[in-house]
Amino acid sequence: MMATQESSPLSSLDFNVIKELTLEEAKAVDQLILNELSSDVVLINQIGHYIISNGGKRLRPMLLLLVAKALGAAEHNHLILAAVIEFIHTATLLHDDVVDESKLRRGQESANAVWGNAASVLVGDYLYSSAFEMMVRTKNMRVMEILSKTTTAIAEGEVLQLLNCNNPETTEAQYLEVISRKTAILFSAAARLAAVIVDSDPAVEEGVAQYGQHLGIAFQLIDDALDYKANKEELGKNLGDDLAEGKPTLPLIYAIKQGTEQEAQILINAIKHGNREVFNDVYQVVLRTRAIIYTEERANEEADKAIEALAVLPDSPYKQALISLAQFAVQRTH
Ligand code: IPE
Ligand code: IPE
Ligand code: MG
Ligand code: MG
Repeated sequence: MMATQESSPLSSLDFNVIKELTLEEAKAVDQLILNELSSDVVLINQIGHYIISNGGKRLRPMLLLLVAKALGAAEHNHLILAAVIEFIHTATLLHDDVVDESKLRRGQESANAVWGNAASVLVGDYLYSSAFEMMVRTKNMRVMEILSKTTTAIAEGEVLQLLNCNNPETTEAQYLEVISRKTAILFSAAARLAAVIVDSDPAVEEGVAQYGQHLGIAFQLIDDALDYKANKEELGKNLGDDLAEGKPTLPLIYAIKQGTEQEAQILINAIKHGNREVFNDVYQVVLRTRAIIYTEERANEEADKAIEALAVLPDSPYKQALISLAQFAVQRTH
């Protein structure tokens, strides 16, 4: 369990306290983002502002900025890269909602629900390209290497996930491989880039990258638990989207292993046919087999590893905030 901090649950206030530490920089990052969205192609402006201006936790830029400040200071290149990371994240969301056929995102209709799949895919591509255009401004070859490898890995993760869809034999190891690539690598890149910009010691760079990787895995594990148990309004996304796609996430993988033959069969059929109608039956099995609890325990272990990896940083309020961020990732409800 949590190794370093008392275990009282974090309130949303604590998240605001974490946010407070990078508030000025985050404003500058948002300004960079808005400048970048101003294309003379109307639909790009519309969809770009629609998804970027209406919420989102901005967790990845926050992580990058906190690591930067823990290492001394947030420079202009850090701000650029924080914007780049949020652009890449947003591009993946536009694409992801098309692939997952999700209709709700950040508490509003998803872009694909409003403008259709083609528009979402194309504007997602625009955000990717735009991110790379911004990245080049840092004129730093390592930055370019890290980000191009990162986006390749994300695409691999998404395709691997597609291959696992409707396959009830997917193992926990295969699932972890998917989430490591589709989600954790971007968190890891955000932390690593903060260190690369200030030419940190390789051990420091590796430590913060490990922090990001473990944090990202914890974050996706909780995301997959929340897809079954969250409050829809708070989450800002529909529940059951994973089930509707026949996505074998850890709550299902574990429940199949732990359930009776009859229970397992309910889940196997649900995965094979990707069926939202059986959500309640599936949820009962997931509850009975304590599969959500197992998923949360796995996420806690990852958060602990993330916190351990921060040993490479000197003590500071920013390091403390990074510890809190790892706790937020597992205790969050949205
Ligand atoms: C959603 O990420 C996609 C996942 C990797 C689970 P976030 O939960 O960070 O999404 P926003 O940016 O806050 O909307
Ligand atoms: C995260 O997976 C997707 C990306 C890494 C792009 P999900 O499909 O679970 O994300 P949500 O739940 O739709 O935000
Ligand atoms: Mg999705
Ligand atoms: Mg999800």
